[in-house]
Amino acid sequence: MVKKTILSAENISVGFKVRSSELRAIRNVSLELKEQETLAIVGESGSGKSVLTKTFTGMLEANGSITGGTVRYQDKILSDLKKDEEWDGIRGKEIATIFQDPMTSLNPIKTIGSQISEVIIKHQKKSAKEAKKMAIDLMVRTGIPLAAKRYDDYPFQYSGGMRQRIVIAIALACRPKILICDEPTTALDVTIQAQILDLIRELQEEYQFTTIFITHDLGVVASIADRVAVMYAGQIVETGTVEEIYYNPQHPYTWSLLSSLPQLGNRGDELYSVPGTPPSLYKEIKGDAFAPRSPYAMAIDFEEEPPMFQVTETHFAKTWLLDPRAPKAEKPEIIQNLHEKMVALQEEPQTIGGNENV
Ligand SMILES: Nc1ncnc2c1ncn2[C@@H]1O[C@H](COP(=O)(O)OP(=O)(O)OP(=O)(O)O)[C@@H](O)[C@H]1O
Ligand SMILES: [Mg+2]
Repeated sequence: MVKKTILSAENISVGFKVRSSELRAIRNVSLELKEQETLAIVGESGSGKSVLTKTFTGMLEANGSITGGTVRYQDKILSDLKKDEEWDGIRGKEIATIFQDPMTSLNPIKTIGSQISEVIIKHQKKSAKEAKKMAIDLMVRTGIPLAAKRYDDYPFQYSGGMRQRIVIAIALACRPKILICDEPTTALDVTIQAQILDLIRELQEEYQFTTIFITHDLGVVASIADRVAVMYAGQIVETGTVEEIYYNPQHPYTWSLLSSLPQLGNRGDELYSVPGTPPSLYKEIKGDAFAPRSPYAMAIDFEEEPPMFQVTETHFAKTWLLDPRAPKAEKPEIIQNLHEKMVALQEEPQTIGGNENV
């Protein structure tokens, strides 16, 4: 079945005014989101993951704006919306976001239950009594034990993992079509992280929403996503299915990210980390933004920006290495035969680094 596109970004650029300078956070990004898929966006801190998805809900800070391109959601052009009122029927209702720190999304002086009920009353036009019943039902579905009893608790009486479940419940109270999860598990410990990931997957089956999952951890991507977009310095540098990104990655930046997967390190050894730092986004970036950090950079990488090369129907990468004239480059040894390595790791879980809590 060919899935329909629910949201698309075409050549989106975003700039922020910082004093008298302009920071170009997003540079000509195009992206298509298919109905009911889970798309993971990965990349280092500052690569533009949050800013890109904020353009889907009109949540850019006041000093930022879309400087070019179009964002479409179903038949609406979101990049044309300016005022908050214009976003009313979309933000939260059609496209909802959950953030890393649930404490900032919850009101500390209101009970958990009233915060869920409020949203149901507002968006689904239910009576207080009906809303309470629905809120308790959502609490049960998001895995809150003794939900009816804990309806009247305050956020401080919940653990971090439970608060994140409540934030998810509130987001789902509006029955959004798209759920943007911006590093929703980063602040949680490994065991709870896994539970929240399971929960999002289960709820997605039940409520049939489309998910954008933002993370800097490629490790969680394999278990949650259908497709992956890798971001670097305000651009998408590679996209493909999870299998394509893991087992046939093409961009040297994706190679670096995969090489630093904790699963590939031997316990006690230092993990590989990408050398160097990303470029300044205040300056014009010439060529391939990753070139100065890439052992594979060629002369042209410092001169001309690479186009998106198509690898398969679903796989694209923005690297000159895919030009037919480029010399053949072998990906790093550590990520060769990654499939076999991952399977072997699953068979002997005691060798998996960084997963001691499981
Ligand atoms: N309001 C703002 N004013 C100025 N610069 C901003 C603003 N918001 C974001 N930026 C800059 O835009 C770039 C992209 O930021 P963004 O928050 O999207 O990164 P990210 O990939 O989500 O990183 P992280 O993993 O740390 O959340 C960064 O250089 C950031 O400093
Ligand atoms: Mg972010």
